[in-house]
Formats: sequence, structure tokens, C-alpha cells
Amino acid sequence: MTINQIRQKYLEFFQTKGHTLIPSASLIPENDPSVLFTTAGMHPLVPFLMGEKHPAGKRLASSQKCIRTGDIDEVGDNHHLTFFEMLGNWSLGDYWKDEAIKWSWEFLTDKKWLGLDPQKIAVSVFAGDKDCPFDQESYNLWKEIGVAEERIAQLDKNANWWPAGGNSVGPQGPCTEIFYWTGGGQAPKKFDQEDNRWFEIWNNVFMEFERTADGQYKPLKQKNVDTGMGLERTAAVLQNKKSVYETESFVPLMEQIKSIAKDYQEESARIIVDHLRAAIFIMSDDLGIVPSNLNQGYVVRKLIRRAIRHAKKIGIPIEVDVTTPIVELIVSQYQNVYPELSKNQRKVIEELNNEENGFEKTLEKGLKEFSKLSSNKKISSQQAFDLYSTYGFPLEITKELADEKNIKVDEKGFIKEFKKHQELSRTASQGMFKGGLVDKSEQAIKYHTATHLLHQALREVLGSHVEQRGSNITDKRLRFDFSHPEKMTEKEKQKVEALVNQKIQEDLPVCVEEVSVEEAKKRGAIGLFGDKYGDKVKVFTIGDYSKEICGGPHVESTGALGRFKIVKEEASSRGVRRIKAVLE
Ligand code: SER
Repeated sequence: MTINQIRQKYLEFFQTKGHTLIPSASLIPENDPSVLFTTAGMHPLVPFLMGEKHPAGKRLASSQKCIRTGDIDEVGDNHHLTFFEMLGNWSLGDYWKDEAIKWSWEFLTDKKWLGLDPQKIAVSVFAGDKDCPFDQESYNLWKEIGVAEERIAQLDKNANWWPAGGNSVGPQGPCTEIFYWTGGGQAPKKFDQEDNRWFEIWNNVFMEFERTADGQYKPLKQKNVDTGMGLERTAAVLQNKKSVYETESFVPLMEQIKSIAKDYQEESARIIVDHLRAAIFIMSDDLGIVPSNLNQGYVVRKLIRRAIRHAKKIGIPIEVDVTTPIVELIVSQYQNVYPELSKNQRKVIEELNNEENGFEKTLEKGLKEFSKLSSNKKISSQQAFDLYSTYGFPLEITKELADEKNIKVDEKGFIKEFKKHQELSRTASQGMFKGGLVDKSEQAIKYHTATHLLHQALREVLGSHVEQRGSNITDKRLRFDFSHPEKMTEKEKQKVEALVNQKIQEDLPVCVEEVSVEEAKKRGAIGLFGDKYGDKVKVFTIGDYSKEICGGPHVESTGALGRFKIVKEEASSRGVRRIKAVLE
């Protein structure tokens, strides 16, 4: 069964169980300062897991684009991918463990659907601890289905809780995972979670708690189910392949790399293919991320540069274009599911080529410099920083080169150095990608409403070419990225500020309505349409001033906001400006 067929079957199955299909949300989270990327299908649904009403109903299913950069060092093995698709079905305060578990079993084992061998399936359930008891209900359900006791492991929060470990803030709960025996022959009678031939394919999360900032587990307003199935991994299992790179979606990409490498090595080819695939999906998102030295743009840059360095390692000559054929192959495979790929193809190729050519120029010199340093026992923070600033080596490349020579890099020192020079405030090593929640404090909600006023004011002052490219809100400030080709003048900034403050003074009411996407467009609502929840969207109007599609939440009227002040206007990436503003 191909990846396309599995995706289709999954969505069809959950439609027969009363689920509404929702499109994948953007890879770049909106209004969530805690993460750079969407890391799981649940991520864009957090407000609805917390109890807000979803316009598409209580049963949802989707295939969500996800990026996980936490595992980047493991890319190259059989199954870690930076970009992957996660199939998910959700109950927002509707069905619970019984249906969720039985449906996952039916979909996986019924011949009409995936038809996996039930004799090769094992599961795990939450063992219980001081915060939450043993998940007896799931245990009983698995037994009732016919899973043998030795095949039901009872594990702790690190294995059977989502988000793993239970240390993050937000909606969460115990989970039950499903594993498939990939070791060939009959599966062992007893499940051993340490044996990686037992391969995880499905996670059913029972979200019934909210963990608060002070570490308490409070019952959520509603009990939710969040399930996730890694699409590429499941395809590998169904196709009897040892690795995801042997599935039909990766084979043409791997062959392309093989055909141009003089000194082919499988692991490097996997890294090239994985990293470029992730960069292409991120850059194809309508928010227009391009390689840069900031936030998501910097992750894209690191992915591309690491791919290029591996391309050189396996002897791909400098005059050969590594990136364009990979874009073309990916677009042709996925354009029907993710139309943004073909829409943004030209721009993505151009940006990739720029980055590829630019980095190739300095890579060779950088490698020479590195080999001089590598007679030392350790690369100091200053040396690592020089490799970055002069030759464009992200820390990951320096570390990888150092690992190959068995020498150490002063990583901590580098990060300190880096931060002094860059505005990149949060890095992967500091938990940037661990997942998290929108800051829902009262102040953050005010900033959210202020962002709508700012968006409309910018369109009035600068023109209707202004479109949102990103938004990030904390309880201390808002940050808004928008399309505009040049620096704003002082006068323009003052005008925008004055307009926003005028609308605050008018104490305009904020109202919300649920309408179809078509209706929202007809009414002239602005906002990010591309990735919204299927048919119905929420439209927030502020008096007769702003009309924008958005998930909320907002204040009731603008008088609550205080005084609005722009503190910074700067470039974010090519053609995109960034405003930081505060409420005083
Ligand atoms: N959120 C869970 C996961 O990502 C289930 O969807 O595994």
C-alpha cells in the first residue's frame, strides 16, 4: 500500500465513524511563542482541546504536516525523519477510550483497511503514579479485544504520557501505544519495549488533564482523544521495508542522489534527502519562510547547509545542482495533497539555489580551516563561532565534523557567543522544540486583539498588499510579520500607532461569528485562509474596523487594551517586515 493510499484509507475510515476531515494546519504555528514548528497533529488544536468550540465539530481527522528537529542527530537511521505526516483522529469532549481503542484496532487489523496481522501486535498502557492512576480501562479494553497479557506493557510517564514525561504545560494525559513486530517470522510471545523490532505505529492519547505552570494536574473541561499515526513509518511496515527510505516516496529521491554522487554513502544520502525534504515543506508553506539567521529561517538554513555538506562528502561535484531535482520530485509526489508545494515551487527553487550556491563557496575554505583546528583536542567557543561567522558553519556541522575526528566542541560557549551576536533567543538545545502552549494569560489575549488592529491599520497606511506572515505573542509584547517591500518611515509608524490607539479609545466591541470559508471571503475578512479548518471558520470583527478569520481568544472590547506603542520595525526576511509592539 502506498503512502497516498494509506492516507486516503485512514481519512475514509474515520469519516465512516462520523469524523469531519480538516486540512493540515501550517507548519509554522500561529500565535504560539513556545514552539517554532508544528510538531504533532494536536498542536494546532490546543485551544479546542482546552474547551473552545471547533467550527468543524467534535470528531475530527486529518493528515498534519509536522517538523521535529529534536531528533536531528538521529536522522540517517532507519526511521527518524525531520518532516513527516501524522494521521490523527480527535474527539473533542465526545467519544472516549472504548471507541478510540476499538477503532484503532479495527483500522489496523481489518482486511478491509490495513489488514495487519493481529498476532504481531503489542500495546502499552500507563502504569500509574502519584498524579494519575493505572489505566485499567485501556488495559481491560485491550484484553477484551484479544491482546495477550504478556503483550500489554505497563509503562511510566516517559513512555505512556503525552507530551512525553508530563513536564510541559497544557492539555495532556496518559496514552496507550500500539507496536508491530517487524523482526520477521512469528512475533515473540512477550512484548519487550527495548527491542526496536517492536515498532511503534500508533499512539492513542487520553487528554483529560491540564498541567498548570506550578506543576498541578487539573481536570480539563472536557475529555479528549488525540491519536497519532506516523504515515511514513506505517508505510514502511506495510511494505515490509526495513526503513522509511525504502518506501516509494523516498526511493526516487535516494536514486537521484545516488546518480550524482561519486562516492555514495547511504547515511549521507538519507541526511540530504531528509533535510532537503523538510526545508522544502517549510519554505513552501504560505507564510514564506526563507533561509535566514532567525528562528524558523535559521532552522531552514541549518537543514540546507548540513545537506550540502553531506553532498560534498559523498562527492557530488560543485557544478551539479543538488536541490532543484529534489524539489521537482517532491512537488510531483505531494502536490495533490499539499497544493502549496506547486504554488510556491519557483520561489522555493530560487531560495534553495541561492543558499546552495552561497554555502558551497565558503564550505571548502571552512573545511580547510577546520582541519587546521582539528589537531587540537577541543574546538573552543571562539573557534566554533569563527567557523560560523566566517564560513557559515552552523554548530551542527562543526559538531559533526568534530565527532568524526573524535574531538570536542565547546557548545555552551558557542551558544553564548552566538546569542550575543544574534537575536535568536531560543535554540533547540534549550527545549525550543519540546512542544508547549499558547500563553493564555489575560495580557496575551489583549495583545492578540491588538494584533488584529495593527494588521488592519498597516493595510490602511501601507496598502492592501500587507498580509500576515507570522505572529508571535507573549504576555509582554506582540510581534507581527507582514509582507511589505521596504522599511517603514517614521511617519508611517506614527500613523499606524495613532490609528490603533484611536480604535482602542473608541472601545469597539469584538464579536465572533462562525461562517463558511466562502462566506468569510465574501465578507472581506482578512487572515490566513489557506490552512483553516475545512468548511467553517470563525470571523472576529472589531466594530466596523477589522474583520479577520482567527481562532481567538480576544477581549470583549478594545477599551481594555491600554496604549499601543511600536518599539521596533525591522526586516524579518526578504519582502517581510517585523513589528514589535507593547501595550502600556
Ligand atoms: N500527540 C500524540 C503524538 O504526537 C498523538 O497524536 O504522538
